[in-house]
Amino acid sequence: MKKLAAGNWKMNGTAASLAEVAALAQAHPAPACEVLLCPPATLIAQMAYHAKGTPVKVGAQDCHANASGAHTGDISAEQVKDAGAGHVILGHSERRTDHKETDAQVAAKTLAAWRAGLVAIVCVGETEAERDSGATLDVIGRQLAGSVPEGATSATLVIAYEPVWAIGTGRTPTLAEIAEVHHFLRERLTARLGADAAGVRLLYGGSVKPSNATEIFAVANVDGALVGGASLKAADFGAIVAALSAAA
Ligand code: PGA
Repeated sequence: MKKLAAGNWKMNGTAASLAEVAALAQAHPAPACEVLLCPPATLIAQMAYHAKGTPVKVGAQDCHANASGAHTGDISAEQVKDAGAGHVILGHSERRTDHKETDAQVAAKTLAAWRAGLVAIVCVGETEAERDSGATLDVIGRQLAGSVPEGATSATLVIAYEPVWAIGTGRTPTLAEIAEVHHFLRERLTARLGADAAGVRLLYGGSVKPSNATEIFAVANVDGALVGGASLKAADFGAIVAALSAAA
């Protein structure tokens, strides 16, 4: 299994930010892990052009479940694929909150991603209140069951565990808490997919930065990271890529 360092630029970046791609590729021309950047949709095509011939792959942050039609402002999986993306983040907590996305909608989008030939990075994670009440594994189990449709394989599915309270806050779970959730995810996936579940990349996300990446990547069943803020600058994301390469 090749580990995966994925950057989520969220609603950040303009054409000027594409200089970060060249800087990243120059500093890490042959990483031992996969490297993915998911810019806003406006930059997918340009980033794909800039990333050609480098190890940097390009992904989207969302897609619509339908292939085409009357859905003003939305973008289909086929369209992000056409723009040059090979991956799509689905069910990120910011979309579950801002756009009231349900597990069923995330599952429909995941099917759309597979229909278009994209790798789906499906996000799950508990709120702080859910963790405090001891409901973490119940929530994660429900989200995983509801958001990942039948037909997943290790080649088409990546799971990102992102505790909502750790995103953009500088706070992270303990290493033991990360290990517990990732072990649980592996078990649930094994029950559904059998031996192939061993190859599904399980990313941790939420305040990953150069200073904590190495210890997080040493946790069992952590096969990479989904990185927000620290993916915007090549120097920071490059340090995370280097940490993951060293753990690979
Ligand atoms: P963060 O975001 O690294 O800025 O905490 C992670 C994410 O939302 O994917």
